[in-house]
Amino acid sequence: VNFASDNVFGIHPRIIEALNTANAGTAVSYGGDDWTRRAEQRLSEVFERDVTAFLVVTGTAANALALSTMAPSYGAVLCHADAHVMVDECGAPELFTGGAKLIGLNEPGGKITAKTIERTLDGFIRGEHDAKPAAISITQASEFGTVYSPSEIKSISEVARGRKMRLHMDGARFANALVSLAATPAELTWKAGVDAMSFGATKNGAMALEAVIFFDSELAEDFTYRRMRAGQLLSKGRFLGAQMLAYLDGDLWLDNARYANAMAQRLAKGLAGAAKVRLPLPTQANEVFAIIPQTLHGELAAAGVVYHQWPGEGPGTDRVGPGEILVRFVTSYLTHPDDVDRLAELMG
Ligand SMILES: Cc1ncc(COP(=O)(O)O)c(C=O)c1O
Repeated sequence: VNFASDNVFGIHPRIIEALNTANAGTAVSYGGDDWTRRAEQRLSEVFERDVTAFLVVTGTAANALALSTMAPSYGAVLCHADAHVMVDECGAPELFTGGAKLIGLNEPGGKITAKTIERTLDGFIRGEHDAKPAAISITQASEFGTVYSPSEIKSISEVARGRKMRLHMDGARFANALVSLAATPAELTWKAGVDAMSFGATKNGAMALEAVIFFDSELAEDFTYRRMRAGQLLSKGRFLGAQMLAYLDGDLWLDNARYANAMAQRLAKGLAGAAKVRLPLPTQANEVFAIIPQTLHGELAAAGVVYHQWPGEGPGTDRVGPGEILVRFVTSYLTHPDDVDRLAELMG
């Protein structure tokens, strides 16, 4: 019974099969192969316009490299205080931008708002004594499993435009947000003013695959050099292209995300009546956060349930009280409904 993360699960059989097929014979190295070219084309189809896409191996690299095209070394990048780029990437965005300053905004629900961004930027009144506002990064779905609607993204991108800043989206769980909102990839990104995104696949069934996707091709200039210097240009690049083709083929990515989200909904429903448990946020993607008594934490561990205790006082307005802790359960395309029901029963 493992709810630790979506990346504790393996690779989807259709992606394994695609890797196996791509394994036959020889192919041009360093991304010059046919699989990579077709994957890039498929991404343009998915986003309903010409995009410039670069395949990389980790979400951290995708984020750091995308931000490096937007923020100079003296720039500021605004994001949520709990954003992956802020707290989980060992300073990779700072390294690859050459020293840009990440500024975390602490807002409930894991999402930042146009209003708080404006208020923060209004405080930048000291010229070069502050870092130069350069980019905003939002996470879709957020680190707390909530999603940004197209209109919320649009209001953030309007602030960015007005201040000559760029908008980046960390889409490590983009598919989960997409199916949750029943929106199109275009509506959630470039139509709402996103300039570039990290398009995640690993958490949703791939082996190791993210794409940095540029909607503004100007930003993509020289990206090949950035990717190479970061050690993210795979010599056997065909295996990234093959993963992406299989991931998108027949809407595997959407089906996987829909299933994972449904398992999270099932868990949230199962916990709704549990007297000792409070859910501080609505469940909108494939993560369920819960405030539980410390004693229950011990019982769940003894029953063999694996999940993470989460730092902080709670992502919503309902805060962690004395003797309580915040925990996170993540569902995936392989989460078994019986495991969900067992967890709900143990917590009920
Ligand atoms: C929101 C978010 N962004 C980015 C990443 C980074 O992905 P990776 O572990 O592949 O570097 C993660 C991984 O946990 C994540 O949750």
